[in-house]
Amino acid sequence: MSVHIGAQPGDIAERVLLPGDPMRAKWIAETFLQDPVCYSQVRGMLGFTGTWQGVPVSVQGSGMGMPSASIYTHELINDYGVRSLIRIGSCGAIIDDLNLGDVIAAIGSATDSNMNRMRFDGLIDYAPVADFSLLRTAADVADRRGIALRVGPILAADAFYTDRPDLYDSLADYGVLAVEMESAAIYTIAARYGARALTILTVSDHIKRGEKMAADQREQGFSDMVRIGLDTAIA
Ligand code: ADE
Repeated sequence: MSVHIGAQPGDIAERVLLPGDPMRAKWIAETFLQDPVCYSQVRGMLGFTGTWQGVPVSVQGSGMGMPSASIYTHELINDYGVRSLIRIGSCGAIIDDLNLGDVIAAIGSATDSNMNRMRFDGLIDYAPVADFSLLRTAADVADRRGIALRVGPILAADAFYTDRPDLYDSLADYGVLAVEMESAAIYTIAARYGARALTILTVSDHIKRGEKMAADQREQGFSDMVRIGLDTAIA
């Protein structure tokens, strides 16, 4: 096993979906994958491998925030040979023309996290970006499935609760669509170790309008996102 994942070499597929919530990993594995097997329960951060349309795919919980997501991304790539990581999760919209349940793909990820600044001694603001081939595939898959997929930049924030909502207004002025908490670290670590990464998100709340998705709305929106993620992973 690696430090935080209790799997043997070969237990984890080269293509991994990364939801933040381990219970969502379980739901995805049990709802969408054929013959899912749980390979890790370490710290309750569940991971499963099964097949999607005959191709092995794993689903690994990553936890909330960049420190946690960094650990799983690093170990999946470096200890288990994972080549493609697709984060799937929820986000809070900050631009007017997004609605609850909309699905977005993050072409790039601005961040207020210090993790990337530390990599370059605070001298360079590294730009974490999606893998182009995964992004193009996700856009094609969404078209084929008739699901509207909004592509644009997002913010990966360290804090869920902010004292500076005015900064979200400024980011929206620059075309930033939404806020979540993991993508910048996943993009950066994948780039560092030569793997591919993409983030696909469902709008679960609208930060500016104070709206929140109801539980029954979540399942449909999340199902669209999972299908795009799985089809993209195996393409
Ligand atoms: N994920 C879902 N909603 C979010 C929000 N409002 N802020 C940060 N991450 C989120």
